[in-house]
Formats: sequence, structure tokens, C-alpha cells
Amino acid sequence: MKVLMYGMTPDQKIYVDKWNKDHAADDIQTTDEQLTAQTVDKAKNFDAVSVMQTSNIEDEEVYRKLASLGIKHLALRTVGYNIINFDYANKYHLLITNVPAYSPRAIAENGLTAAMFLLRKWGGYFKQEKDLNFTRPESLMSDEIYNKTVGIIGLGRIGSATAEIYHALGAKVIGYDIVKNVANEAFVTYTDFDTVIKNADILSLHTPLDQSTQGMIGTKQFKEMKNDALLINQARGPLVDTAALIAALKKHEIAGAGLDVLADENQIFMKKFDNIKQLPEDYQELAKMPNVVITPHSAYYTKTAVQNMAEQSLTDIKRVLNGQKPIFPVNL
Ligand code: COI
Repeated sequence: MKVLMYGMTPDQKIYVDKWNKDHAADDIQTTDEQLTAQTVDKAKNFDAVSVMQTSNIEDEEVYRKLASLGIKHLALRTVGYNIINFDYANKYHLLITNVPAYSPRAIAENGLTAAMFLLRKWGGYFKQEKDLNFTRPESLMSDEIYNKTVGIIGLGRIGSATAEIYHALGAKVIGYDIVKNVANEAFVTYTDFDTVIKNADILSLHTPLDQSTQGMIGTKQFKEMKNDALLINQARGPLVDTAALIAALKKHEIAGAGLDVLADENQIFMKKFDNIKQLPEDYQELAKMPNVVITPHSAYYTKTAVQNMAEQSLTDIKRVLNGQKPIFPVNL
């Protein structure tokens, strides 16, 4: 099989090179360029393409060109598929697959880390340490996880892994999803969306981004949340209304936020700045807040996940080219 993998990074390429070595008949080529209307021609003479979430494929031209090049399969190396325009994918008979199970634990554990960092006020202690201040101010008195109610919105693979971890730590776990997974009932009590919002001490978001979930946490939800609640978003930035989040933090409607994703994250993620003033104004505000921890969409970034995202996307491409059903179809 001949595959072009766009958006390749050195950390993933190690596993792609290994695949090439282990599968002598395959020809997997990589480029660090993203798939766009300008780079789609590079896919000429390939059987399939693979991309990351950083590709810009809103434009119908990309789908039309892929079809004209005879490409029938676009394999995402990500869980999220919000970058795909499914009207165009279906119009040009392009199969989309993703890799939903490359490591739910990677994201779940990162969410827990952000929550514990905020709950135990490590931001304050870390700052003090750098100032060589080893006192124990009352403002840094913290809380214990097993006394808390954790609310999970979205109980797919990642949400379920998150619920299981919090349950194991003794927290009460409540959750909301449009579908109920009975296997989860051992560690999460399903309830409605509003009940989760109103009762969570830690609110952890794990839904896909689409029209029904965009802005699902906004002014109304912040007003309903507990004043000492923490918001943890490891899913997609636009699930949360950024302006409403900043207002809620300023008005102490919630106590803090752990954000691995931001609404316009490409403006700052994977970039290095010299001065906080170079950030867009809303991100300046968030970055200055001691009760906000921002990580650069790195929840997924573990060795296990990076290996699996490369290998699982190539496995599905191989299956499809061999006439088998893909394991992770998104639009079959
Ligand atoms: C996803 O897999 O959907 C993610 O959000 C992680 C991505 C940055 C590789």
C-alpha cells in the first residue's frame, strides 16, 4: 500500500519508520506539511492519506481533489473528527476513520492531574518555592478528592476512563451522556445535564465538538455551578465560551479551570512567546490567573498514545485496502 501521512512529527515518525521496516511491501511516506487545498496534490499516486487535527480541510476543493486523485480513504490519527466536513466527505465517497482508542487513559490521567493540581493548590506552592518561600499560608489550605463529587459530561471511552479513575479514588461520580452505557454503572451514576452542572465539585468535559455541544458551558452554566467548582476541559476548546469563563473566574462563580484545549488554540499552542502581551487578550487574562492551568493540547501526548495513533491509523488503511472493514469507521 502507498500512504501519505500529512502533519508528521519526529515523535510519530519513529513508529512510522518501524512500520515501514516491519511491512516490507508497504510504502508509507510522510510530510510535515498539513493537508490543505494547496498541498493536496502531493497525494497523487498514493492509495490513502492520513492527517492530524491541525489540517485545514474545510474547503470542498480538498475533498474534490482527493477524489480526482482516486483517494478513497482519509485516516485521522486523532480521536476527534471535528475538522472533517462530512457533507463533502460523503459527496466525494471518502471513507473517514479515526483512532478513538489510542489511549483514553492518557487523556483521563491528564485531566485528573490538572484537577489535583488545582484542588491541592500546587500552583501556589510551586510559585512560592521559586520565590524561596516555604511558608504555609491559609490561602493554600486545600481539599481531598474522596470528599468530592465529580461530574463527567460525555461518557465515551475517555469520559468512562475518567469516571473509573475518580471512582477508584473514592469520589462520587455523576455523569451525563445522550446514550447510557450500562457497563459504566459500576462507577458512575447517570443523571441529567443540569444536575451534573449544579452538583459537580469537579466538572470534566469529554464530549465531541459539534453544533449541539459548541458553547455548552457558558454564562448560564457558570452561574449554576458551585462557587468552589473546578472546570476541566480536555476535549475541545469551543465547548466552553471563553469570555464567559473569564467572567466567571473573575466573579468567583467557579474556583478554577484546567484547560488542555482553548477555543482558538492554534493562535498560541505550539508557539513560544517572549512576553505575555504577545498573547491574544483573553489568553493573557487566563494565563495570569493563579487558579488556571493551561497545557498545550498535550493530554494525549504519551509514548503509548503516539505509537498507537500512528499504528492504528495505518492498520485501518491496510484493512480497507485488503477489502476488510475498518475497525474505526466514522462515516460508513
Ligand atoms: C485527538 O486525538 O482528538 C486529540 O485531541 C489529540 C490530538 C492533538 C492528537
